[in-house]
Amino acid sequence: MADQYAQSHEDSGPPPTPSIRWDEPPEGPVLVLLDQTRLPAEEVELVCTDAPALVQAIRTLAVRGAPLLGIAGAYGVALAAVRGFDVDEAAEALATARPTAVNLERGVRRAQAAYRSAVEGGADQQQAAASALAEARALHEEDAEASRRMAQNGLAFLDELQPGGGHRLLTHCNTGALVSGGEGTAFAVALAAHREGQLRRLWVDETRPLLQGARLTAYEAARSGMAYTLLTDNAAGSLFAAGEVDAVLIGADRIVADGSVANKVGSYPLAVLARYHHVPFIVVAPVTTVDPDTPDGASIEVEQRAGQEVTEFTAPQVPVTGAEPGGGIPVAPLGTQAYNPAFDVTPPELVTAIVTEHGVVSPVTAEGLAQLCARSRQV
Ligand code: MRU
Repeated sequence: MADQYAQSHEDSGPPPTPSIRWDEPPEGPVLVLLDQTRLPAEEVELVCTDAPALVQAIRTLAVRGAPLLGIAGAYGVALAAVRGFDVDEAAEALATARPTAVNLERGVRRAQAAYRSAVEGGADQQQAAASALAEARALHEEDAEASRRMAQNGLAFLDELQPGGGHRLLTHCNTGALVSGGEGTAFAVALAAHREGQLRRLWVDETRPLLQGARLTAYEAARSGMAYTLLTDNAAGSLFAAGEVDAVLIGADRIVADGSVANKVGSYPLAVLARYHHVPFIVVAPVTTVDPDTPDGASIEVEQRAGQEVTEFTAPQVPVTGAEPGGGIPVAPLGTQAYNPAFDVTPPELVTAIVTEHGVVSPVTAEGLAQLCARSRQV
């Protein structure tokens, strides 16, 4: 079955435009984002001069994905500080722009704490702003390093499960360079397998309703030159039944104390399918995504998004994540209500392993996760 889907692509590397960058033109410092709502049609940058602009970019998913949200949040605090805005007000707005990915609030609080401690230590406004910016830059670099290590750890784990390579991996949503300071989380593992000649195929779920898989993961996969095939989310069942999936690899927005994993809606059904078909279900995430203060899956706040994302299609090259009523082509009768959670929660017993930059937790237990977190704090 697999060969009929074979294809080859030029290895043109990650998107040439960085997903996020700090810039200091003569008009003053800005945070520049690669506008992910415009991909794959065009690489367009979005310039934020203040925190409200960044909050809007976060809500519309111009910037998205857990690790990148953390980095963006930290830079957002620095932006407010450098431009002389109220830092605490900016931090509050940024930390609550979206509720599920814990990285966002973490990144914001980290830069805010650096700013505050500089002020308390007698620094002037400019020096305190520089401290916040240095913290954001440090987080950005740490995420790149975490990404490298997750790729190594994830590939080693895959090789243990299936020695000899030839991996056929199924992924959901988008977890590559677009969401990271480095090459990403789950996608970085697939990329490492590809570079080692061990990836037979990446199956890419389109990821309804906002198509992060079709628009973004397929884009990154094509650029990397790997063999990949796009499928509708509801085709995954028949793919498992045909024996075409060796492992599922996904990212996470929040991993809580008991090992429950919040990720893009559609992850949980994949975990159920994987269990039924005896296929490993592997979560790849940095420790900044682990939230030991939330006890269990039921306590995770899952973002609910506008129904128009489900009741309408938007035309290509129009921001598909805009969620403006009337912005797209209606596909349901006018007035139809939609259930549109952005994420779902997979219980720990369905997760084969959590791969982080500090090691792998498998089986997934509260104790194993707590030990990993403790180890990561010692480094
Ligand atoms: O709504 P999004 O596009 O921000 O959702 C992103 C995801 O669910 C990703 O899978 C998750 O953030 C992990 S990214 C490494």
